[in-house]
Amino acid sequence: MYSDLQNRSTAAARPERDLEVVVADRQVVADGVVLLDLQDPDGEVLPAWEAGAHIDLVLPNGLVRQYSLCGEPQDRQSWRVAVLRESDGRGGSKFIHDELRVGGTVRVRGPRNHFPLVPAQRYVFIAGGIGITPLIPMMTAASSGGADWQLIYGGRSLTSMAFVEQLVAEHADSVAVRPQDTFGLLNLDALLGGPGGLSDGTLVYCCGPGPLIDAVEQRCTGLPTGLLRVERFAPADASEPVLHGSFEVQIASTGEALTVSPEESVLEVLRCNGIDIDASCEEGTCGTCETRVLDGQIDHRDFVLTAAEREQNALMMVCVSRAACPRVVLDL
Ligand code: FES
Repeated sequence: MYSDLQNRSTAAARPERDLEVVVADRQVVADGVVLLDLQDPDGEVLPAWEAGAHIDLVLPNGLVRQYSLCGEPQDRQSWRVAVLRESDGRGGSKFIHDELRVGGTVRVRGPRNHFPLVPAQRYVFIAGGIGITPLIPMMTAASSGGADWQLIYGGRSLTSMAFVEQLVAEHADSVAVRPQDTFGLLNLDALLGGPGGLSDGTLVYCCGPGPLIDAVEQRCTGLPTGLLRVERFAPADASEPVLHGSFEVQIASTGEALTVSPEESVLEVLRCNGIDIDASCEEGTCGTCETRVLDGQIDHRDFVLTAAEREQNALMMVCVSRAACPRVVLDL
């Protein structure tokens, strides 16, 4: 139907330059959610992006966090991100909420897009909580392209759900807001398996907490590959590796073969051998360390690549994915 690879904004983990941006505006837009507008300090245009893209915030405390861009791609003066304070997180969102004020600066990387909006006649968007953020520019793009779409948006309570007023004002007929304290869990059966199920060509985009994505994936198992696209905030439980022993990674540019033991990641071994690879989450969710594979079968353990991309075996996330054969060759 389409090539997933054609829709990706990056193809390999090349080290990239950080940009410094200034916080031009800061608003609390829901319980525990702050919306930041980031601009170039000298008023220069920012790099272009498309719906679904995210940027890394490289925080002074050493943490790197990914946030979806939720403004308008046409606005090249400003990037907009919404950040949920995660009380049980590792401090990234706490720093942003507590320390990053209007006029303050922060380093960023990107944008990258591992969750691109593929052209379609019809979309179903499913958001849980702060997972609404990548879907906002998607809905705008879908409307501009004349596509039919609907959004079902869940969250703990109405006050915890960002952008509700904006969404209802702009797209009242297409948006169903379903706070859990009023409606209970999202009725995915009605949405995905109701009368007639999903019509031909409908693409399903889902972003939110792991249990929501798991539930959507479960209900979409019968769909053709590529019709469901998800973006996770955190990795799902890891499964057993395909290959339990060591394997070799060969560096195409030099021919050097490096051994990866069961206790090490490919990323660790590359770094230990002086090969510079960009990485952010190091848990298979952000796509920063994506690296081209020239030969070999991969045991994909990330949450970025689609099923079609996994089958193509042309890319791997070296922070978590491993070889499913004795040797893989990387385009490094
Ligand atoms: Fe995020 Fe590898 S560093 S997927």
